[in-house]
Amino acid sequence: MHRSWMKNEGFPADMFDGRPVIGICNTWSELTPCNAHLRDLAERVKRGVLEAGGFPLEFPVTSLGESNMRPTAMLFRNLASMDVEESIRANPIDGVVLLVGCDKTTPSLVMGAASCDLPTIVLSGGPMLNGDYRGEKIGSGTVVWRYHEEVKAGRMSVDSFLAAEAGMSRSAGSCMTMGTASTMASMVEALGIALPNNAALPAVDARRNALAQLTGRRIVGMVHEDLVLSKILTKRAFENAIRVNGAIGGSTNAVLHLLAIARRMEVDLTLDDWDRCGRGIPTIVDLQPSGRFLMEDFCYAGGLPVVMRMLAERGLIDRNAPTVTGYSIWDNVGQAENFNTDVIRNFDQALAQEGGIAVLRGNLAPNGAVLKPSAATSRLMVHRGRAVVFESIEDYKKRIVDPDLDIDANSVMVLKNCGPRGYPGMAEVGNMGLPPKLLAQGVEDMVRISDARMSGTAYGTVVLHVAPEAAAGGPLALVREGDMIELDVPNRRLHLDVAEEELEKRRALWSPPEPPLSGYQSLYVSNVLQADEGADFGFLQGRRGADIPRNSH
Ligand code: FES
Repeated sequence: MHRSWMKNEGFPADMFDGRPVIGICNTWSELTPCNAHLRDLAERVKRGVLEAGGFPLEFPVTSLGESNMRPTAMLFRNLASMDVEESIRANPIDGVVLLVGCDKTTPSLVMGAASCDLPTIVLSGGPMLNGDYRGEKIGSGTVVWRYHEEVKAGRMSVDSFLAAEAGMSRSAGSCMTMGTASTMASMVEALGIALPNNAALPAVDARRNALAQLTGRRIVGMVHEDLVLSKILTKRAFENAIRVNGAIGGSTNAVLHLLAIARRMEVDLTLDDWDRCGRGIPTIVDLQPSGRFLMEDFCYAGGLPVVMRMLAERGLIDRNAPTVTGYSIWDNVGQAENFNTDVIRNFDQALAQEGGIAVLRGNLAPNGAVLKPSAATSRLMVHRGRAVVFESIEDYKKRIVDPDLDIDANSVMVLKNCGPRGYPGMAEVGNMGLPPKLLAQGVEDMVRISDARMSGTAYGTVVLHVAPEAAAGGPLALVREGDMIELDVPNRRLHLDVAEEELEKRRALWSPPEPPLSGYQSLYVSNVLQADEGADFGFLQGRRGADIPRNSH
C-alpha cells in the first residue's frame, strides 16, 4: 500500500530499496515571514540527502510566526511540538531534519523530535541582512519602538517611518539582533545538534544553501551510525549551551526552551543549573540589544565557532561533548579564527563581566525568577522600593499613562497574571514601559517584576518568570500597593517585606481566575507547567521513542 501510493509522486522503484527515509520537517509559511524562504532551503537539503543515498520527504508542520500570531506565539509552542512529535512517529521516517527560524519554531520542533529520539539535525533559516536606514545600522524590533516615539513626537514623518520599516526587513530571514531567534539558532549549534555556523550565516548568503546541502548529507550518515538525539543532548550539552548563552548575551526565553527540551530528553536540568553555569561567563559578543552590532557582522567576524573556541580554551565549556558532525565540539571549532575583535571581543574587553542569567529566589519567588544582568542597570541590582501594582496587563495599560499615578523612580513596578496560566502563553510584557511622566523627567530604568516573559530584543532591570505565577496562587498574587520589595541580585534574593501572618490573611482572601471554558486555551491552562519547569505540558514530558505506543494487550 504505502509503496504504491508513494509512487504517484513519481519516485522510481529503487528509492524503495531500503535506503534511509529522511523527513524534512518544514515550518515554511507565508504567515511566518522569517521562515518564508524555507521551501528553497528544503530543496538544498534534499540535494544533500540524495547525494548521500537517502530518500528525502518534506512535510509541513505548524509554523509559529512571532510577528503575526495572537495573543502570543508561545501559547502554541507546545501544540506545535505535538504536531511534530506525532508526524515523525506516525510516518516511516528514519531520520529527520528540522527546518526552523522564527523564535518558537526552533524549540517546538526540537521538543517534538526529542520525544521521538531519532537521528535529528537542526537547520536554521538564518538571520536577515543588517537593517539599514540612511546609513544607520538598524536592528529588528528595537528601532521600531524608537522611531514610533519619534513619529508621535512629530520629529519623524510617516513616510520616513515606512522607509525605515522597509530598510529594517530588507531580505529573507529571521530577526538579525541577538533576540530569541538568533539565540535559539545559537543554542542548537552550542548543544551540538546543528552543523557549525548554523547560527550566523545570513539567510541569503550562498553559504547557507551549502550548509543546507551538507546537513542533508550528514543526516543520512547519522542514520547509518544510529546517532540519535539522546547521544548528544546530555547534561553537559545543556551546560555548554547555558554558558554560550551568557557569552552571546542571549535571550531570557532560552531559559524556558532549554528547560522544556531537557525534560523531553529526561535530562535533569533546573533553574539552579542556569545560575551555576552562567556565573563568571562574560558577554563577549557585542550585538544588539545589549551591544552595537548585528548578526551579519557576527557572521563576518567568524560566528559562534569563535565564541565556542574561546570558551573551550578557557575551560568554560566541555570541549569533548559530541555533536551531529560525529566529532567533538573542539574538533569542530578548534581552528575558528576571530576576524573582528570589535564584534567578538577579547575577554578583557567584555561587554559585561557577568553575562549569565541570574536566578533569584525568596518569599516572592519560592520557585525562582530570572533576570538578565547584562541588560540591567548596575545601580539597581541592589534595590529596595515601594510596590506599584498592576493586576493585569489591561490594568497596566489603563493606569500607566495617568499623570496622577503615585509612582517615582524608586518604585518597583509589579505586574501580575501574565504567567503561563494567567495570560495563557505567558506574554512578552515583562519589560513594561516606564510611566510617561517619569520618562519626561529623564528616568531611563526602574525595577520591574512579573510572571511574564520579555522579548529577546528588550532590556532593563526586569525580573521575569516569577514562579509560581500569580494565577497559580504564587506569592506574587498577594503583593499590594505600597508593600516594600527588596531586590538583591548579587545575593540572588527577591523579598517581599511583609510579615508571614499578613500574607496568610491575604492568601485566605485570594481566589484563582476563571479558567477558559473550552478550546485549546482550556487544554493549555489545565496542563501547562510553571516557568521554572519550562512551561511545557506535563503529559508531554519525557522520551517516548519513535515506535507507535500500543497497549500490551
Ligand atoms: Fe521572527 Fe523575530 S519575528 S525572528
